[in-house]
Amino acid sequence: MSGTYTHTMKLISGNSNRPLAEAISSYLDVPLTQCSIKRFNDKEIFVEIMENVRGKDTFFIQSTSFPANDHLMELLIAIDALKRGSARRITAVIPYFGYARQDRKTGGRTPISAKLVANLITAAGADRVLTLELHAGQIQGFFDIPVDNLISGPVFVPHIRKTYADRPLCIISPDVGGVVRARALAKRLKADLAIIDKRRAEAGVSEVMNVIGNVEGKSCILVDDIVDSGGTLCNAAAALKKKGALDVAAYVVHGVLSGEALNKVANSPLEKLVITDSIAATDEMKKSPKIEQISIAPLIGEASLRIFEERSISELFK
Ligand code: R5P
Repeated sequence: MSGTYTHTMKLISGNSNRPLAEAISSYLDVPLTQCSIKRFNDKEIFVEIMENVRGKDTFFIQSTSFPANDHLMELLIAIDALKRGSARRITAVIPYFGYARQDRKTGGRTPISAKLVANLITAAGADRVLTLELHAGQIQGFFDIPVDNLISGPVFVPHIRKTYADRPLCIISPDVGGVVRARALAKRLKADLAIIDKRRAEAGVSEVMNVIGNVEGKSCILVDDIVDSGGTLCNAAAALKKKGALDVAAYVVHGVLSGEALNKVANSPLEKLVITDSIAATDEMKKSPKIEQISIAPLIGEASLRIFEERSISELFK
């Protein structure tokens, strides 16, 4: 990217995923704007943008990953600081949008937290949102500002093609909610599709009821938006092996990997778990031999550039 752009485009990183922000910065050849994020004694957050942003097109990069509430609050306060610093436009770049799974009432007197978080980001002063693989596409409608919801296809498809060339492939949706994502990937890869009938007796505990489709003798690739406890993927992998799958791997956009997830994955029939860097990898994740992280920095960088230059983003996915 030409150096002249650096005068008007400002990239700022929150604390949630500095390595990704640095990779986006180097893709765009735009330095990260100096920004200080401090905690008062009572843990209140204070943000100070250390460079002039008046009239600039600003991009604040922050995943609302663990600790979700701190990172969300940092994002809101940074947006407020940019707004009060007279930024011309503020794009909240949220590679992993937490709270997305709370996108509907699941019972009486329960919240729709994804909507609340969308309201908070809008009220703080964001002009637009750039995110990746929202848990449900409809969450875009929770915002009354433009949302660009990138898909992971351009990152996963070449990797799958390279790794599984010449093997009989079957793309697997680990639950009914993920069928649209899995079908789109299967279409791009000209692969078969199968679906797992998953039930949840309670939050965080999943059970496979059935495998719908023929997986016998095929290399099965589970695709999902989130791996959290790992239960969904590991149970699905075991069920697929039982039905005669040749081998099972998983491609998941957001590696939340909380609690015992890493052990579960290590002890499961999953051959490999490929995740993106939408959430910064912990040291334990980096050490796990089954986990491979691929970067979304070029995709997010390119989409940011297109927002800045007012060019089409959908062209990226043709
Ligand atoms: C659920 O609908 C999501 O798409 C994921 O399948 C789910 O969040 C994975 O959670 P866990 O790894 O805890 O089973």
